[in-house]
Amino acid sequence: MRPKVLVTREVFDETIEFLARYFDVSSSQAMVNLSREATIERLQGMDAAVITTSDRIDDEFLTRCTGLKAVCSASVGFNHIDLDACTRHGVIATNTPGVLTDSVADMALCLTLATVRRLSEGERMVRAKQWKGSHLKQLLGHDLHQATVGVCGFGRIGQAIAKRLRGFDTKLLYTDISRADRKIEDALQATYASKDDLLRQSDIVILILPYTPETHHYIGKAELAKMKVSAVLINMARGGIVDDTELAVALKAARIWSAGLDVYENEPEVNPALFELTNVVLTPHIASATETTRRAMTMLAAQNCVAALTGGAPPNLLNPDYKKYLKG
Ligand code: DGY
Repeated sequence: MRPKVLVTREVFDETIEFLARYFDVSSSQAMVNLSREATIERLQGMDAAVITTSDRIDDEFLTRCTGLKAVCSASVGFNHIDLDACTRHGVIATNTPGVLTDSVADMALCLTLATVRRLSEGERMVRAKQWKGSHLKQLLGHDLHQATVGVCGFGRIGQAIAKRLRGFDTKLLYTDISRADRKIEDALQATYASKDDLLRQSDIVILILPYTPETHHYIGKAELAKMKVSAVLINMARGGIVDDTELAVALKAARIWSAGLDVYENEPEVNPALFELTNVVLTPHIASATETTRRAMTMLAAQNCVAALTGGAPPNLLNPDYKKYLKG
């Protein structure tokens, strides 16, 4: 009997065709997310799930999907997967690093520019037919060129952002749990700083670090208070890394100048206080959303799934210890 795989969200035809060469594939080819209950129900008797960041995989989920052998996420982030629970249940977990690095870095620049140049405010004004002609003091923003930019998280994507920022002649600071190789620092003209120094010195702070218990509310009231009054905060990483309630308070009080957010605490909910503000640009978690990149991500998730169920080594295995817990 062929293994059975559920694809929980709409993907591209070639991904389904590829999976169907190996498995009986059932998929939810709809834009609407399957509920958790519906996902669990559909996974009964199935061997693997190709999932997205909208699927929360935890102990309860795995306990109720007893036959599951692999969860393959079409995302680089994996905070929606409890890796320890997967390991204990002998379930392989995989992600899709690498293929989205450049698209996410492009979007970081896009959101940064949109925020410092007040793009959304301007567009809203034009669409509302409230633009009465050019005005020298209208919608004044800040420059990205020659700004001091602090990148928090200096992994693949952080470094790709740094590479792009060189073209804007910025002064680049970065922080991370450890310092990058000297050669990387030199090539990117990046200076290591403590988190505090980076927050105090940067005109623009870009967050691109993984969401873990340690990075929960990495930016909260105390951190916002350390930033310049003219500072701009860009969250490209995950909701939960920023305390959105405190951010809204700081933006309203003009404690910092503005923010650009691609991710939110409790997605797809957005803290309603943010809707009241003009000095925040809001995008719907689209950092990796280009045609090429999303095709590459879903295909890589499918390749991980094939490797996981056919006894190969999934290229992006997140929990090698799962083997210790395999039954039978
Ligand atoms: C990721 O890959 O983690 C992105 O946030 C999903 O688009």
